[in-house]
Amino acid sequence: MWETLFRDFSFLPEQASEHAGQVDLLYFFCVALTAVFTVLIPAVMVFVAIKFKRKSDDEVPKPVHGSLPLEIAWSVIPFVVTMVLFGWGAVLFFNYSSPPPNSLDVHVVGKQWMWKIQHPEGKREINQLHVPVNQPIRLIITSEDVLHSFYLPVFRIKRDAVPGRYQTMWFEATKTGEFHLFCAEYCGTEHSLMIGSVIVMSPEEYDQWLQTDDQDGSETPVAAGERLFSELRCNSCHNGAGGNGPSLDSLYRTRVAFTDGTNAIADESYIRESIVDPRRHTVAGFGPMMPTFQGQVSEEQVFELISYIKTLGVE
Ligand code: CUA
Repeated sequence: MWETLFRDFSFLPEQASEHAGQVDLLYFFCVALTAVFTVLIPAVMVFVAIKFKRKSDDEVPKPVHGSLPLEIAWSVIPFVVTMVLFGWGAVLFFNYSSPPPNSLDVHVVGKQWMWKIQHPEGKREINQLHVPVNQPIRLIITSEDVLHSFYLPVFRIKRDAVPGRYQTMWFEATKTGEFHLFCAEYCGTEHSLMIGSVIVMSPEEYDQWLQTDDQDGSETPVAAGERLFSELRCNSCHNGAGGNGPSLDSLYRTRVAFTDGTNAIADESYIRESIVDPRRHTVAGFGPMMPTFQGQVSEEQVFELISYIKTLGVE
C-alpha cells in the first residue's frame, strides 16, 4: 500500500533498502501527528470562542480554579508521544549505525568537488558507487578538505564527511538499478555538481565489474598498505618484538589502555588518529616517541595502512 502511494504521488524517492521503508514509516507518523495537532488546535480554538462567547455586556465569567486531571493529561500525553518519537528514531539510528559483521567495507573520500571511492578488492571509482544487491555495505567516510555529506536518498541514509575523522554508515540494497548520490552539505562553488550515482548490481555482475580494467592497476588496499608500512619504516618500532612501539598484531577492535588512564576500542578512527596525531593518546607502557605522519600520507594512504594493520595477526 505504501509502495503505491509513493509511486503515485512521488512524495519521496523510491525505496531501495529495508531501512528506507522504516524511515518513511517514521516520517509519515511524524507528518500524521503534526496534521492531527494542526487540525485539533484551531478546531478547539474556534469551538471555545463560540461556546464561551460573552452573551451580554454585563456578564461576569465564573472564576476558574484549575484542574489537576487536565494538567496531568496535557503533561503525560505529550510526554508519551515525544518518547515514542524519540525511541523509534533512536532504534532506527542505532540500527543504521551498527553494521552486521559480514558487511563489505567501502571507503569514501569527499574532496572539492568529487567523491572518491575504493572497494575492498582495490578497485577505485569517482562519483559512482557500484554495489551488489542484498549484501550489507559499510561505508567508511571522510573528507580531505571541507565538510561534505554523503547522501543516498533511495536508501534514506546520509552522513557527513568530516575532515580528520571517519564516519561510518551501512545499508543493504534490496533492488538493482541506478540511483542518485548527492553531496548534501554546501561545500563551495561546485557543490551542486558534486553528484553521482549508485549502481546496484546482482552479485555476479558486481564480480564481473570488479574484474574490469582500471587505470590505477588493482593493488588491494591491504597490499598497498603493506608496501607503505615498510616504505615508511613503521616496522622499525612496531615489530612485536619488544620494539619502541606497541605490537599491532590482532589490534583491530581490541581495547587499548593509555598512559593517562583512559582507554579506547582500536577501530578505524583510533588507528587513523594514531597515524596522524600519535601523541594525543600514548599506549600504556610506551613513551610518546612516534612522530606524526600528517601531511606525509594522503587520506587514501591512511586508509591503506589501516586496511593492512587490520589484517595483522589475523589468520
Ligand atoms: Cu561536497 Cu557539497
